Amino acid sequence: MDQTLSDNIDEVIVDPKTYGDEHSYHRAFSWLRENDPVHWTAPDRYRPFWAVTRHADIMAVEIDAKRFLNDPRQFLVTAADEDLLFEQTGSRKFADNLVAMDDPKHRAYRALTSAWFGAKSLKSLEDEIAALARETVDRMIDMGGACDFAADVTAWFPLRTIMIVLGVPREDEPLMLQLSQKLFGAVGGVEGMAGMVDAFNAFNAYFTGITADRRASPRNDVATILATATIDGAPIGEAERNAYYLIVAAAGHDTTSSSISGGLLALIQNPAEMAKLRADPSLIGKAVDEFIRWTTPVKHFFRTAVSDCEVGGQRVRAGDNLMMCYPSANRDAAVFDRPFEFRVDRPDARKHLAFGYGPHTCLGNALAKLEIRILFAEMLARIDDFQLAGEPKWVEASFVSGLTSLPIRYRAGRG
Ligand code: HEM
Repeated sequence: MDQTLSDNIDEVIVDPKTYGDEHSYHRAFSWLRENDPVHWTAPDRYRPFWAVTRHADIMAVEIDAKRFLNDPRQFLVTAADEDLLFEQTGSRKFADNLVAMDDPKHRAYRALTSAWFGAKSLKSLEDEIAALARETVDRMIDMGGACDFAADVTAWFPLRTIMIVLGVPREDEPLMLQLSQKLFGAVGGVEGMAGMVDAFNAFNAYFTGITADRRASPRNDVATILATATIDGAPIGEAERNAYYLIVAAAGHDTTSSSISGGLLALIQNPAEMAKLRADPSLIGKAVDEFIRWTTPVKHFFRTAVSDCEVGGQRVRAGDNLMMCYPSANRDAAVFDRPFEFRVDRPDARKHLAFGYGPHTCLGNALAKLEIRILFAEMLARIDDFQLAGEPKWVEASFVSGLTSLPIRYRAGRG
């Protein structure tokens, strides 16, 4: 047993730095899975919680949505920031969005857009996403064989896709990027809540304008669905509508971009896997699952128990909070054969919990997989010889994290 680690484990679990370095993360969480898989965590500046680190325990909690609620705690923020939020908004929730709702409200709100995010309507987006992927690879080639893949490519491609889904015009994308990075930087990041309320207000003002526009001239996009949505015959509330826009706008790009850049880095670091995928492009579906398992961009969500129960052998009391540690689940040797090996043809990759599980399973999971598949198919067909051209850098944040910088070199190929 690693004595320093076990002495300090509660602080390691909440330290944003742990999440900026995958070796530190996996060292700590492998230790937890082995020694204390449902670990009572009582760090200095945070309200205490159970860290749930095994695949089976996370699934058991998430499927039991009557006992384990999303309200009121969704993410890790300091107790001081939680109190500040409460003072400013009168609530411990960041916003009344899908992630903060429970049934029956959650089911009703999720049903508003679930068909839109299903396979059938995504089919109609495929051409637009493919055109975007071609444009993205054209730009990479125009950059002359070198770029910062995280900053120049993956920061934009998923953002553009989600803006097509929402119906936000291209000229407003930089604003969306800036606001959502401010928001994500605040949750679980080193800067705390600074700027968060400003970002919320700016988002709300923007989306109020979109609502007015879609009511006047409806289109075939998610914004129109939300602008005109009713539940039980009554229009949905303004706070819920704005929170819905925001979660769709914010949840879909830093996450997807982190799987794209992390997936490319893993291919560069594992040349035999890159060669395997190039030799057999039909592996792309499995490879995408593996990119997502490997990177697991969302590091946690919380649940709160409403009654006393047992999780992974621990007595959990009503009111206790539980942190679902997704990247840990995705290296669990009880589920994944040699979990620390990156394999594009891994048969068990689909069992990953990177999209969560149960009624809150990522609404955009099919969209994310579609985007990643289309972009990699285009890149691998038209670009050869990807190489690392500098040190990759990761963002230090305990909620959503991934590469902020991935300097690469490459050669335009056949396509
Ligand atoms: C690789 C990319 C992505 C990852 C890793 C990811 C991960 C997650 C996770 C872990 C959850 C919570 C699941 C749970 O509590 O069980 C979630 C929920 C959600 N995601 Fe994603 N996501 C990704 C892409 C997207 C995209 C492209 C969208 C587009 C709209 C999106 C929208 C949402 C929404 C709206 C929810 C809330 C669902 C609910 O509470 O019912 N995500 N996602």
